[in-house]
Amino acid sequence: MSKDNRSSEIATLLRRRIAAAADGERLAGVRELSREYQASAATISAALAELSSLGLVRSEPGRGTFVTRSTPAPEPDFSWQSQALGPARVDPDRASRLGGYGTAEHIPLSWGYLAPELLPNDELHRMGSRAAKSSRAWVMTPSAGSPELRRMFAAEYRADPSDVQIVAGGQQGLVFAMRTLAEPGATVITESPSYPGAILAAQSAGLSIASVAADRDGIMVDRLADALERTRARVIYLQPSYANPTGAVLSQERRAQVLELAVRHGAFIIEDDWARHLGLDGSTPAPLMTDDAHGHVVTVTTLSKPASPGLRIGAIIARGPAGARLRASRTADDLCVAPMVQEIAHSLLASNVWPRHLKRLRAELTLRRDALVAAVRANLPEMSIQTVPRGGLHLWVRLPEGTDTREISAAAYAAGVLVGDGRHFFVDEPPAQFLRFSYGAATKAQLDQGTRTLARTLAA
Ligand SMILES: Cc1ncc(COP(=O)(O)O)c(C=O)c1O
Repeated sequence: MSKDNRSSEIATLLRRRIAAAADGERLAGVRELSREYQASAATISAALAELSSLGLVRSEPGRGTFVTRSTPAPEPDFSWQSQALGPARVDPDRASRLGGYGTAEHIPLSWGYLAPELLPNDELHRMGSRAAKSSRAWVMTPSAGSPELRRMFAAEYRADPSDVQIVAGGQQGLVFAMRTLAEPGATVITESPSYPGAILAAQSAGLSIASVAADRDGIMVDRLADALERTRARVIYLQPSYANPTGAVLSQERRAQVLELAVRHGAFIIEDDWARHLGLDGSTPAPLMTDDAHGHVVTVTTLSKPASPGLRIGAIIARGPAGARLRASRTADDLCVAPMVQEIAHSLLASNVWPRHLKRLRAELTLRRDALVAAVRANLPEMSIQTVPRGGLHLWVRLPEGTDTREISAAAYAAGVLVGDGRHFFVDEPPAQFLRFSYGAATKAQLDQGTRTLARTLAA
């Protein structure tokens, strides 16, 4: 038996003796215990040290070792913290659904990322191993990002590389943009319904949110004009292409009108271009920023959707003082995005794997989108599909009056299916009852099975 094992064994035996002893009682001395347990003085001292670290005995040099009866730790009282913190900015209920919910057994009938088989995982593993061995992965990059990666994003957006800033995914881009473009307490206008993460980003930046209704052609321009007058908001958050959750695409006519309004009111538009690589029918409309001459549009893009949610790489493209302030705020936050991840992202975008992957993805997602639309029509005929999306990942369905989407999503969860409760996509009262479905995370068979299970749950 090793000395360590022997000392632990003696410590266990001594614990029994300590349990029966009174507080402050003196234990036998080291020499005596050595004799009793047939162990060296060093082993006995190690046993006593173990007991002392557990707070069961206290050694007093020159006097001996004494039993201590520690009083039980008081129940923690954190109530002072809520008082010190004041009201919570970020709505925890909405936040709890953003980063992941459900278990591996749930059918992801609503989920904002792609199934693993649709991701370029083999290539990412290979590129990751190579990046880990590269010396570039282990030194800092400039805070705005690696020059090579910035150039790749700039080329896609026909932007100047110096206007590109690398961020750790689209969500971080939204928080940075909202925090930098508006002072706490100011108002940001969002289309409604909208991406819950944008609502959280606004909350985290201390902004109040004014929502403006959108239809299949994007935000309703007359109402946007009215909201800009009324709220004096200087920031508008939009998803011009394949909005989450509705799949809406801002029409050509409205693009021009929205830009005109931004110019007239001296406002920024945060363009969340998350679905650029997820166009299915026809080509994805050009980014709104390409129609903007004077720096009103700040674009946020991400590789989380087409490449990997775990990559955590995105970019903000912003011109003028807004871009400079965003870059300064990046430095204040965390100096730079992990260089190894930037290196992997650059390898992916620069390789011929990327266009091949996007082509395969488009074909696969189109099949899954069509399968989901067919499954909803066949299995859930009482639900009305608002628009068949031409891109993105989501299908927005309206439910009959009087249904309760909170109950439905909870029942679906219990039956092993994840559906998106429409309420989470509205800042104010939902005008009707909606669910969000997605076609990127589940297989065709799961889409069918998930909608059937949901139908059975609703009938029960
Ligand atoms: C509309 C929209 N924007 C941005 C994001 C942010 O994604 P990420 O931070 O993973 O890049 C998401 C993710 O669900 C999204 O749906």
